[in-house]
Amino acid sequence: TPPVPRNSATRLTGRKNLKTYRQRLNLQELKHWSLNPAAVHHQRTELASFVDVSAELSLTRSTLLPGQLLHFDYSPKHYVFVVSAALHSLLPILPPFHGRHFNSCAVVGNGGVLTGSGCGQRIDTADFVIRCNFAPTTGYVHDVGNRTSLTTFNPSIIDGRYGGLLTANDRERFLNRLQELDGAVLWIPAFLFHTSAVITRTLVDFFLENKSRLGVQLAWPGPLVGHITRFWRTRALAPKRLSTGMLMYTIASAFCDEISLYGFWPFAWEPISGRPLPYHYYARRGARFTTAWQEAHQLPAEFRLFQQLHGQGALRLHLGSCT
Ligand code: CDP
Repeated sequence: TPPVPRNSATRLTGRKNLKTYRQRLNLQELKHWSLNPAAVHHQRTELASFVDVSAELSLTRSTLLPGQLLHFDYSPKHYVFVVSAALHSLLPILPPFHGRHFNSCAVVGNGGVLTGSGCGQRIDTADFVIRCNFAPTTGYVHDVGNRTSLTTFNPSIIDGRYGGLLTANDRERFLNRLQELDGAVLWIPAFLFHTSAVITRTLVDFFLENKSRLGVQLAWPGPLVGHITRFWRTRALAPKRLSTGMLMYTIASAFCDEISLYGFWPFAWEPISGRPLPYHYYARRGARFTTAWQEAHQLPAEFRLFQQLHGQGALRLHLGSCT
């Protein structure tokens, strides 16, 4: 499939660009796809020379000691995080699904392109379903499904959506949401920014207090994100930070044969009709597309890589309707 133009998302909203882009993105071509086991294998072995994802999906009780100092991936070195006994007790003995392998994985990005897609059922049939940033499924099940095997959970979500867990009501809401995810892995990248340090301690206390009522498995990645970042640099992708979706695809590529991507479309218009799209599928009605991600991510560059990998049969990119 020919590449997407090297424009910013803002410029891509223009009618002229939309027309050019439609000519280039052949959706029929996207539909005719077959898995190429050699391409899957190639991607996996190249990644394996940078990182053992299965071993590094989470820090473990034996890889860290209480009192040990951690640094943050994206903060200056003088910021430190002391591993408390409480956090240490929440670390898994082995990383979740260590050494396991899955035939099919759905990696669900949060793009507004999922709205009206009717992809929910198809997503839920995958052996392993990965979601990003604790995105809601209730109210969107027809388009996004409701199974979750793993979701990323940046501790800042506590501040943004659960009032810092300061009220009984916020705590109850958060607990209920976690209980809906029983059995899933909550993948918590707590050591990226020093600004998450305080809220991470609140989160740790909350997990300890509610341990007996929770069925989610916790994963706390350490150097994994840095290793994945170095891997993509070798493919000319070097943003300030990789997107959560790119991290999740990369992780999936280590243990999953057939990977389908949904909700990856960082552009302001729907690929077929050209109607305007919000950035997230769960955005308020009438919300405008946002380009806030441009400060940190290079989503169009990541999308071009996904398109290439789709063309090679290493992953399957779903755009448009599943029905
Ligand atoms: O944490 P981050 O800001 O990267 O992600 P998000 O906004 O919660 O969305 C999850 C992922 O979906 C992103 O990391 C992107 O990879 C993908 N996405 C996309 O491709 N197009 C969009 N319009 C929105 C998200």
